[in-house]
Amino acid sequence: MPEAAFTPAAGRFLPTSAYDRLLALLTREATWRANLLEALAPKPGERILDVGCGTGSFAILIKQIEPDARIVGLDPDPEARRIAVTKAEIAGVEIEWHSGFARDATNFGQFDKVVSSLVFHQVPVEEKRAGLEAMFTATKPGGLVLIADYAEQRSWLMRQAFKIVQSADGRTNTQPNADGFLEQELERICGAPQTAVWSLDTPTGTISIFSADPASR
Ligand SMILES: C[S@@+](CC[C@H](N)C(=O)[O-])C[C@H]1O[C@@H](n2cnc3c(N)ncnc32)[C@H](O)[C@@H]1O
Repeated sequence: MPEAAFTPAAGRFLPTSAYDRLLALLTREATWRANLLEALAPKPGERILDVGCGTGSFAILIKQIEPDARIVGLDPDPEARRIAVTKAEIAGVEIEWHSGFARDATNFGQFDKVVSSLVFHQVPVEEKRAGLEAMFTATKPGGLVLIADYAEQRSWLMRQAFKIVQSADGRTNTQPNADGFLEQELERICGAPQTAVWSLDTPTGTISIFSADPASR
């Protein structure tokens, strides 16, 4: 995938500098991030990869909650990483930042836990497949793969709400998620149906959290 071939954090039309404010306004961010953090349950000494870390909010949160965990943030967008670096400096936390796509997750060694939030709804289908595979491959046996995203939009109301995201990120990459692609792909990788462990209706659609053991592959 060429270096420029990605949808930036705030979508095709708005600057990445607007992303953090938009997210707080449109996704009930504090609620789903707290639940994602609880599901991640970071422990001292663990090496944790945040795929598509964007402006770094979740990577920083993990490090603040568990200062003895080693956090690696991966994102293809230099502008998002620049914001992440500044935010981490202000927060006084040390995080290792790298440039790369989800499919590059295997290039940084093995991790105890690999997490991704709000990334797969805005990437092409072939990258959803390759990125999910790479997340599982990069996770140690007995570790944890965690994904928070707009997955299947089950109700009429949530499908209407998700149109806000679709207008920002484009229909081609987002519609497969609304139709259940993430659930199908996780079932294919894990060999058994994967249902969300938690979900939240937001002004921009339902955000679901999936938790999988890489040994289940
Ligand atoms: C909506 S933002 C989410 C950022 C962050 N994970 C969060 O929870 O706030 C999506 C991020 O995914 C990144 N991204 C886009 N395509 C990607 C890909 N193929 N692999 C990994 N990250 C990608 C974008 O640069 C952007 O920073």
